[in-house]
Amino acid sequence: MSVRDIVSIGDPVLRERARELTAEELRSPEIQRLIDDLIETRRAADGAGLAANQIGVAVRIAVAEVDGVNPRYPYKPPIPLTVIVNPTIEPVSDENVEINEGCLSLPDLRGVVRRHVEVRLRYLDREGHRHEEIRRGLTAGTFQHEVDHLDGIMVVDRADPRTLMTWEQFDRHHRDEFVARITAFAERVGS
Ligand code: NI
Repeated sequence: MSVRDIVSIGDPVLRERARELTAEELRSPEIQRLIDDLIETRRAADGAGLAANQIGVAVRIAVAEVDGVNPRYPYKPPIPLTVIVNPTIEPVSDENVEINEGCLSLPDLRGVVRRHVEVRLRYLDREGHRHEEIRRGLTAGTFQHEVDHLDGIMVVDRADPRTLMTWEQFDRHHRDEFVARITAFAERVGS
């Protein structure tokens, strides 16, 4: 396993639609190693998730994991390590929520994005087994963010540009209000 470099906005690989993997490719040592590297790189960078194109490989794989208190997103509920391959995601209710999001490919920038509160997530795990799950709340937002990456979509595309802010200004002017609102939301809807 190794920690890879994370590419920043401006690298064309973040703007491609990443391609699906075949079952045979998924079993290959190269792809299994890529998954290990995604897990390791996410852990080293303290993201909540990481998509393969963020380390320069445009295939439809992402990982999500929130283990204990995440230093970048301390308000996020835990997510057990989840590797999603060829994922699809769809809303299962009309409810939306505004989430102030960061991204490892957007150095020192956050923005407010409207996300579905409840989604159906379908994917293969790294062994090729099919999963279909309902995810809610901030965790649903994390998976929408990662699947967006695989479609070449970034936070800055979905955010009103007037909501963009540095992490310092988030701390100074927005954190308290956002964390109070989103904590009450997370308690209401679960994850
Ligand atoms: Ni991101």
